[in-house]
Amino acid sequence: MNFAARITGTGSAFPKNRVTNIDIVEKLAKLGVETDDRWIRERTGIRERRIADVDNPDEHNSSLGVLAAQKALEMAGKTPEDIEQIIYSTCTPDTLIPSTACWLQHKLGATQAWAMDINAACSGFIYGLTVADQFVRSGQVNTSLVIGGETLSSFLNWEDRSSCILFGDGAGAAIVEQVPGDSRRRILSSHLMSDGSLWELMYIPAGGSSMEVTPERYSQYLHKIKMKGREVFKIAVRTLSDFALRALKKNKMSIDDLDWFVPHQANRRIIEAVANRIDFPMEKVLINVEKYGNTSAATVPTVLDEAVRDGRIKGGQTVLLDTFGAGLTYGAVLIRW
Ligand code: UT7
Repeated sequence: MNFAARITGTGSAFPKNRVTNIDIVEKLAKLGVETDDRWIRERTGIRERRIADVDNPDEHNSSLGVLAAQKALEMAGKTPEDIEQIIYSTCTPDTLIPSTACWLQHKLGATQAWAMDINAACSGFIYGLTVADQFVRSGQVNTSLVIGGETLSSFLNWEDRSSCILFGDGAGAAIVEQVPGDSRRRILSSHLMSDGSLWELMYIPAGGSSMEVTPERYSQYLHKIKMKGREVFKIAVRTLSDFALRALKKNKMSIDDLDWFVPHQANRRIIEAVANRIDFPMEKVLINVEKYGNTSAATVPTVLDEAVRDGRIKGGQTVLLDTFGAGLTYGAVLIRW
């Protein structure tokens, strides 16, 4: 018996605190760092983002994941006990151990599932979806929960104006279910690649086992994100374009066969450059970066959820998910919704 995998439910959740560019300008000014609303809007397309309250357990990464998962379960008509596998894609785990997936399992009450984290940074949701697709297609798992969730605000250096203005917090979820192999509506293909030689373009030096956080390193912000934005920008445009075309080619489709393009929401200019490069109309590109900034592994599932819920994405349409992230990691997943 052949199986395929289909996304039957999506959900998303964000912290309550809306932080506008103006709020950031004021926050940075107190630290002696200059920025302005216009620069942020023109260079990134971002107007505001949500920032989690770390002292509120309801806004921990896994708690946002639970809210997103509950909405996805409701859409799929499933209960937490139906879930057999939980894949939590994140580079900002609640704790190093246990995994954020285990925290979520506990809080959600998904007692029949096994749970693990995946860290592919901003490509995490695509990597997680690919793993779920493999398990479901092999027949080992009937129902998988894939989350992309982050609280990146905990890892921002607010004195680094080129990175702190970009990121936000949130979580998106998808229920992936087994369907017969000849189903029209299914995940069609996935395409992943990593290039660890480019680690220096985006990384957090301290806090892992190779570099403990000492008071000296703390004061140097070595436990916070470091990024070479301009280099990342160029690679992002090239790889997002390449992976989009690769996924279409594999399925013998052209750009005209695509109904929706769902790129990683890092910067509106990156998205526009990719659409231009692959000659795809911006009206069919899903974007929410202006409201939430870059939520890393959460960008694709949250913007996807928005379009499913407001009826833009309809059953039978062709939807292409496409990301890049720290690592570097890249990937695309083509879906017939
Ligand atoms: O999930 C992946 C995460 N990372 C990314 O996607 C990053 C991709 N890269 C980017 O989005 C862009 O490169 C940035 C938004 C980070 C920067 O935009 P840019 O247009 O590439 O600017 P730049 O780095 O070339 O800097 C241009 C100028 C510099 O000033 P000088 O040297 O020309 O005087 C920066 O210091 O803009 C300055 N600048 C700022 N000015 C006001 C950088 N950040 C800011 C800021 N406010 N927040």
